[in-house]
Amino acid sequence: MTYYDEVKLAADWLKERVGKVPSAAMVLGSGLGAMAEELSDSMTFEYSEIPNFPVSKVEGHAGRLVVGELAGKTVAVMQGRVHYYEGWSAEELTLPMRAFGLWGIDKVIITNAAGGINPDFKAGDLMLITDHINYMGFNPLRGDNDDRFGPRFPDMSHAYNPEMQDLIVRAARELNVPLKAGVYVAVAGPSYETPAEIRMFGKVGADAVGMSTVPEAIVANHMGLKVGGISCISNLAAGISPTKLDHAEVKATADLVKEAFASLVRKTVEL
Ligand code: HPA
Repeated sequence: MTYYDEVKLAADWLKERVGKVPSAAMVLGSGLGAMAEELSDSMTFEYSEIPNFPVSKVEGHAGRLVVGELAGKTVAVMQGRVHYYEGWSAEELTLPMRAFGLWGIDKVIITNAAGGINPDFKAGDLMLITDHINYMGFNPLRGDNDDRFGPRFPDMSHAYNPEMQDLIVRAARELNVPLKAGVYVAVAGPSYETPAEIRMFGKVGADAVGMSTVPEAIVANHMGLKVGGISCISNLAAGISPTKLDHAEVKATADLVKEAFASLVRKTVEL
């Protein structure tokens, strides 16, 4: 079976069960999954039941897709994602995003927890992703290109769609939710960065660092989906933070901002 067929199997499975094509999909990052509970008339699918969907073994990364109504629109929400550092291949890692594309979804909001590099940031800030730097060491499009997904050399000059960015900015304004903006740099993980790495990332123009989002954003662009991105600054990055980094802090901060985050996402969908 080709990779395309594997993706199609997942997309067809969802099509058959859901009936309609959601107007947007969302990927919820670490600690931000509670937002899925805001959907009404929802259907929940464990990743383990969706054909070919990767299932995380990391604790605290729930693995379910919730499809339901948010602000009058049908949305598909991924509660949890798998990460490259778990050992997944690029194809496995990005299969859910590919399935959304084949399902016919044309807008995605990708979210994550990230470490703040920009000295103006503090833990608990929300950041609009304006662009990214792929420092993961791989590109998910490496290998033979399947033209049914998209072109060999996709343009990435508007990786985070300007209209989606405007919507997120407008939503934040209308809600009076403070919103920072900046460039997200993705690393492979799972170790956090050293202070020297963070100094380097700051110098090359990164504002926040994390271990996800970029592979998904690349395949979404490959398939012509409009991508919006939001980071929750869950901690200050190594060297900027006076304390050691740990995953518990990341989750605890995400928990503190989950209301503001959920209202921002809801408003963005509504606009
Ligand atoms: N570094 C990398 N990934 C992260 C961080 C960080 O400081 N915080 C949350 N995800």
